[in-house]
Order: sequence, then C-alpha cells, then structure tokens
Amino acid sequence: MPREPLHDAHGRRIADLRVSVTDRCNFRCQYCMPAEGLPWLARDEILSFEEIERVVGLMVEMGVEDLRLTGGEPLVRRQFPRLVAMLAGLDGLRDLSLTTNGYLLERDADALVAAGVGRVNVSIDSLQRDRFFQMTRRDSLPQVLRGLEALSHHPKVHPVKVNAVAIRGFTEEEALPFAEFARTSAFQVRFIEFMPLDADQAWTPDAVLTGEELRQIIHAVHPLEERPREPSATARIFRFADGEGEIGFINPVSEPFCSDCNRIRLTAEGKLRTCLFSMHETDLREPLRAGATDDDLEQIVRDAVWRKELKHRVNEPGFRPPARSMSAIGG
Ligand code: 5AD
Ligand code: SF4
Repeated sequence: MPREPLHDAHGRRIADLRVSVTDRCNFRCQYCMPAEGLPWLARDEILSFEEIERVVGLMVEMGVEDLRLTGGEPLVRRQFPRLVAMLAGLDGLRDLSLTTNGYLLERDADALVAAGVGRVNVSIDSLQRDRFFQMTRRDSLPQVLRGLEALSHHPKVHPVKVNAVAIRGFTEEEALPFAEFARTSAFQVRFIEFMPLDADQAWTPDAVLTGEELRQIIHAVHPLEERPREPSATARIFRFADGEGEIGFINPVSEPFCSDCNRIRLTAEGKLRTCLFSMHETDLREPLRAGATDDDLEQIVRDAVWRKELKHRVNEPGFRPPARSMSAIGG
C-alpha cells in the first residue's frame, strides 16, 4: 500500500536508505575502528531479518527507492544473502546495493547475485599490499582482489565501484595507481574525503586530502573532463580526456552536498539517523518489539525525518563528532 512520500522540513524528499546489518567487522581500518575493535552489540540487540524487512518495507511504501546494505562489514552477518533475497523482493525498490570491504566476496559473490544484489561498492584504500595492511590493519589485499574478480564474473552487477578514503600523507601516492586501475579495469574508482567518523577521534581538518588536490595530481598526468552531476549524487565524476574510463571524487568536507541530500540511515540496533553527523537518533526497535502498528511506525519515522538536519557542521568552529564511529553508523 503506497503511503505519503517522506519529506523533511527543508523540502527534501527522502528516497535513499542505508541499513547497517551488523556493527561487527573483520577489518580495523584506521579511519574507522580502533586496533582492538569495539564492544559489539549482543545478538538480541540487533534487528532480526524480519524486523529489518518490516522497517524497509514500510519505508519503501513511503517512497524509498534506493537501498544500500552496509555494516560494520555486512558479509560477516550470518546468512546475509537470505536477507538480501527478502529485501530484493520488495515491491517499489529500484536499486539494492551493498558496501563491503570485499574480504568475503570470493565466498559470497555468487549467492549475493542470486539473491538479487544489483550493485556493489568495495572499499580499497591502496593497491599496494603493505600500504593496504597499514590502513586496514589486515594483510588482505590479495583476498579482496579475488573478491573483485569473483564479482566481475557477474556482468549484471554493474557498475562495481572501488572506494578509497583520502587521507593526507597517505593517499597522495595512491592517486596515480588508482587512476591507472580506473583506466585499465572495468571498476569505477572514487576517492572519499576522510570524515570525522573515526573511533579514535584522530581526525583533524588537516588530515583531509581534498578531492580537488587529488584531481590535480591525476589531471597533471591524465587530463580530466567533468561530467554533468546527477541530482542527489554525492560524487563528482570526471572522464579521462583520452576516453579511457572515468574517476570520481566524493567531497563531503571540502564541498558539502547536504542541500540535496536524500539519505537516511538505520543502525544495526534499529536507530534511525537522519545525518551521518546526527547528535540525535530515533529508536525503532523498542516500538517494533512492543507491537507498534505500521501506522504507528510510519508516524515515528515521519516525525524523525521531518527534523532531518539542514547540513553538517564539520567546517564550523565548535564542531563535535558524533559518539558513533562509521562502523557503528553504517556507511
Ligand atoms: N571517512 C570517510 N569514509 C569512511 N569510511 C569509513 N570511515 C570513514 C571516514 N572516517 C568509508 C569506508 C567505506 C564506507 C562504508 O565508508 O571506506 O567505503
Ligand atoms: Fe570495517 Fe569498513 Fe570500518 Fe574498515 S571502514 S573497519 S572495513 S567497517
């Protein structure tokens, strides 16, 4: 049954939902988790597949068209492809995508595709094994590349994007190797500016290597031409002037794109977050488990979304990062 579309008080229609299916992860990326990990949620604290299906189904009735499944690392959740199959069947969903670190893709790619995953983003911060190890604290680049290879056997999963977090003092050296990779493989490479969502709270404005700086490094060797930006797109996409592929830059810090943000997030334990940097979240698990009707839930979601933040304040004096790290929010 279609419901009234979801809007916020700033005139944005919400059409994109990110669901974290677990806070757990098998990597310990410097910009996300501490080396020793974080205290994990207990089994009964995280939403069951049926609970996720109910919330997502309701939001699809309210006009959510794009669903991205994230974590932590989504593939460490037991029977994850079963959840994908449950959600892929929802009427009204246009796009079902996945963000993963790729470690388990070699094992799971076939099952995920069979379950109905449409697109996949894989996080890779370096194409050199030792530098990959340094950033993720896991010596797993070959395993992740085998995961990409497994995905490439499924041409209908398209495009496959490779995301690299851009950190000053590290990613400068990655710019040209990733440009070569983008030019010679079928994968779309995108750099994401480092955001203050690291559990160690080591982020500083200086640690952000901007998309523009990376673009210049690449442009000096391989001239780039910008493509028109699509509405609500987070990435600026450039094509190589000689026609060999393209490369993207996601610049949430240096060029915030909040004004047409159409995204909301659901954490693994059922909190609705209307911004990556929200200081406030809305619990859906308690009402779900207390027997709320769909209409009750609709009202809770609608009220929370109405109060969606106008913009993030990362660049303003007095900014304080949220208490959750990226792994506990869902990317
Ligand atoms: N800043 C920018 N991107 C981040 N990610 C995780 N933490 C951060 C951060 N602090 C990215 C990961 C992955 C996605 C889930 O979010 O690299 O691509
Ligand atoms: Fe895990 Fe992703 Fe965080 Fe890395 S960025 S530790 S892969 S959740």
